[in-house]
Amino acid sequence: MVQIEEMRDFVRAIGDRYRLGKLLGAGGWGSVFAAESVQSGQRVAVKVLSDDQGDARGRERFLQEIAIAGRLAHPGIVPMLDSGEAAGRLYYVMPLIEGPTLQMRLADEPQLPVDDAIQIASAVLDALAHAHAAGVVHRDIKPSNIILAPGGAVVTDFGIARAQSRTGRSALATTTGVTHGTPEYMSPEQAAGARAIDGRSDLYALGVVLYQRPFPRRPLDAGGLVGRRARSARFRGGSTRSP
Ligand SMILES: Nc1ncnc2c1ncn2[C@@H]1O[C@H](COP(=O)(O)OP(=O)(O)OP(=O)(O)O)[C@@H](O)[C@H]1O
Ligand SMILES: [Mg+2]
Repeated sequence: MVQIEEMRDFVRAIGDRYRLGKLLGAGGWGSVFAAESVQSGQRVAVKVLSDDQGDARGRERFLQEIAIAGRLAHPGIVPMLDSGEAAGRLYYVMPLIEGPTLQMRLADEPQLPVDDAIQIASAVLDALAHAHAAGVVHRDIKPSNIILAPGGAVVTDFGIARAQSRTGRSALATTTGVTHGTPEYMSPEQAAGARAIDGRSDLYALGVVLYQRPFPRRPLDAGGLVGRRARSARFRGGSTRSP
């Protein structure tokens, strides 16, 4: 997690474009801050990646990947407004979405009403259909990447898992044979480190999310091959992120 005090240089370097505000949350790859665009006054969310995200070539590829994801235009996908590097840290900028994540909602209410689960799943499926038709696989569908905005569920961190797997951590991924994503939601082929995964991996992950509706646990918590793989990947340091 990146604390704002530890990021003075970044705050200064990005300050002519965005004024950073409060920390909204932190995940495996960095931290998300509420911010305001200096130029337009738009309220945005700035995701700042941890500073261990790889070499110059990895950074270049990261920026290319998120530019591809940034071309997706769909009401169910949080768009990327901007991306870049400031004081040696990679960042990208999204509109600020009001609303809890599905992870927060499940923490309060582990068994969602069926109608709500269907509505959320339909919104995510629409978003995925659009992305998959454009050749973009999310690779990290999980409750913390689904925000329950007033107008319906929206998916965030699109294309980022792939972009991130191409930065410094990809070296780790190659040596451990594990691709990125969050183990508990990962399809068997993604957990096995298959190079060419497609939209079906996202559908698998959404299936795991939906499984949590009637059963207050994830299927992998119960064990099985993928669970063992995921746990051993975590043990080997492939990915330690939580949902
Ligand atoms: N566009 C946004 N608008 C408002 N809040 C956001 C936005 N994007 C992310 N957040 C908040 O920031 C939190 C952290 O996001 P982040 O993507 O860093 O973590 P994560 O999804 O838990 O893990 P990961 O790093 O694996 O994606 C989210 O759970 C959400 O609460
Ligand atoms: Mg996220």
